[in-house]
Amino acid sequence: MAPHFLIRGGRQLSGAVRVGGMKNAALPILFALLLVRDEVVLENLPPVTDIETTLQILCQMGAELTRISPTAIRINTKNADPDAVPLNLTTELRASAYLLGAGLGRFGRATTGLPGGCDFGARPLDQHFRLLEALGAVIAPEENLLCASAPGGLRGAKLRLDFPSVGATVNGILAAALAEGTTIISGAAREPHIVDLANFLNACGAQIAGAGTSTIRIDGVSRLHGTRYRIIPDMIEAGTYLCAVCGTGGGLRLDDICPAHLDPVLLPLRKMGAEIAVSESHLTAKRTGALYGTVLETAPYPGFPTDMQPQFAPLLCLSRGGGRIYERVWNSRFQYTAELERMGGRILPGKDFADFPGGDRLTGARVRATDLRGGAALVIAGLCAEGMTELYDIRHIERGYPQLVEKLTAIGAEIACGND
Ligand code: UD1
Repeated sequence: MAPHFLIRGGRQLSGAVRVGGMKNAALPILFALLLVRDEVVLENLPPVTDIETTLQILCQMGAELTRISPTAIRINTKNADPDAVPLNLTTELRASAYLLGAGLGRFGRATTGLPGGCDFGARPLDQHFRLLEALGAVIAPEENLLCASAPGGLRGAKLRLDFPSVGATVNGILAAALAEGTTIISGAAREPHIVDLANFLNACGAQIAGAGTSTIRIDGVSRLHGTRYRIIPDMIEAGTYLCAVCGTGGGLRLDDICPAHLDPVLLPLRKMGAEIAVSESHLTAKRTGALYGTVLETAPYPGFPTDMQPQFAPLLCLSRGGGRIYERVWNSRFQYTAELERMGGRILPGKDFADFPGGDRLTGARVRATDLRGGAALVIAGLCAEGMTELYDIRHIERGYPQLVEKLTAIGAEIACGND
């Protein structure tokens, strides 16, 4: 039995979509719960498999979990046991690397399986290790395992990251929140999910300043207390629906968004012909005229997000004039283009870029999702294509898009989940 999406393309999208909470903000916050030995209520959690897997990891470690609704939980990690980490689950997602910072901060030691997640070639952890070691941790990578301990306790330190790595910045904040003294991370990642993690921890009594800038200062505190916290809206989910309507034509209203986070995505969409009107917590977007090409270059926030480049690829295929995507964050993030070619897209690969001559006619085909955002790109291609697309390996997509079929159906798409 292979679950798949069946998409009949060619229908314009119109209506409204409520955007869910941001997966990449929720995951660090869920691991941060280990630092808080108290009851926390989290709202706006996206109901996707990566979040479920993380909740299972926490529960198997001994967390007490009550589900308030599909998007809200009450959770207390006071009885969490560092020796009860389900290693088989940690290998299913990249964010399990955050067990290192959180485990060191809470227990003075941590073990996790080698983090999984999307395959973009090498996904090194050296910046994570440098930060944790600067704070006093000893990292001992074993076969298929990462073990860390802090024999003398964690002490604040100053460190400059070589690259504004989101993951390393998260691990640094997690390890430093309860460490003795002050930690200063320069060259830090500035993504909205970093700000959300700092806001959550500060709501629990942490002393973190500068999140959202390149220099973050963390004054260690001795304990954290419970809180109620709402996860920020998912700018990547929002951007994905915007690309979909820009591809099919039509008009869409997105509710529950944070417009400022979307600026790096709105800029190229406008260049490509979308008309977008933004208000405080929602926006409307439509494309009624031609679709134009553009050049995109991924970069750390506030640059154009690497997590949005695949979703623009089908638009560039269809566009008048074509364009180019430079991928500057990951050295291997164009695997999805081979699938897009099966649908009639013309893509010319370069060293760290892909060229799109444009003017293509996309036609339905049997394709597979190679990773989460690459899978989203194929959904968009299917919505824009003539005929039927059968999209397999949708487990990648289910890691990050809540109720995708329901939300797309509600705005006029012909998409169903099949199982054969
Ligand atoms: C990155 C993205 C994030 C996205 C996620 C999944 C950036 C800056 N980060 O986060 O927005 O949600 O992928 O697609 O866009 N690196 C090292 N050593 C390390 C850590 C990272 O060399 O220890 C390099 C990586 O090889 C990569 C870059 O830094 O080239 C970005 O890594 P990082 O931000 O840590 O990745 P994620 O946290 O997974």
